[in-house]
Amino acid sequence: MKNVGVLASGNGTNLQAIIEAIERNEVAARVSLVISDNPGAGALERAEKKGIPGICFQRSSYASREEMERDMVEALQKEKVELVVLAGFMKVLSPYFINAFQEKIMNIHPSLLPALPGQNAVKKALEYGVKVTGCTVHFVDEGVDTGPVILQEAVPVLQNDDEAALHQRIHAAEYRCYPRAVDLFCREKIKVKGRRCYLYD
Ligand code: GRF
Repeated sequence: MKNVGVLASGNGTNLQAIIEAIERNEVAARVSLVISDNPGAGALERAEKKGIPGICFQRSSYASREEMERDMVEALQKEKVELVVLAGFMKVLSPYFINAFQEKIMNIHPSLLPALPGQNAVKKALEYGVKVTGCTVHFVDEGVDTGPVILQEAVPVLQNDDEAALHQRIHAAEYRCYPRAVDLFCREKIKVKGRRCYLYD
C-alpha cells in the first residue's frame, strides 16, 4: 500500500477510475492528495466528494513556476506521497519537480507513444488518418511524453469516429490501464532498466 498524489487540471475521470478501483480493492494504493492548477477542475470536486484533500495551486499567484512547484512538492511530501500520478495535468513539470520524485511520476497519454506526443493527440490521430491509436502509461522524464513505457492499450479508429467518439473509447482503455499501472507500482512489480519497464506480476 502506497500513498498516491494525483495532479489533474480537468474533468478527472481517470482520477475517478483510480479511486473506484481502489474501492474495489484492485489497487494497493490510497489517494492521499489531489492537486490542481485549475480552481474549476472537476477533479477537485470528485476528490471532495470522496473526502480526499484537494489543493489548487494557481500559476498567477506565483512569481515563477519553480516557486509554485516548491509548494506542490512540499504539500505532496507532507502527505508522504510515494507516487505522483498525472491525470490530465496540463502543466509541464520542471527538472526540480521531476528530481524530487525520481522515477516516481507517471503520466497517461491518449496515443500509442512515441506516436502523436504533445497536446491534442486524439485530434492528431484523426488528422493523420491512423487506423490504430490508444493510450500509454509511462514514467515521466524531463521531455514531453518521452519517459519509459509501463503499459499500452491499442484502440482502433473507426470509420465514423469524430474526436469525441474516439476519445471516449480511448478513455475506456485508460480506465483499465491507469489503475493497473498504479497497482503494479504500489506492489513494487515494475523494474526500470534503461528505457524498458519490466513487469513482474
Ligand atoms: C486523458 O485523455 C489523458 O490521456 C490526458 O488527459 C485526459 C484527461 O482526462 N492526459 P480526465 O480529466 O481524466 O477525464
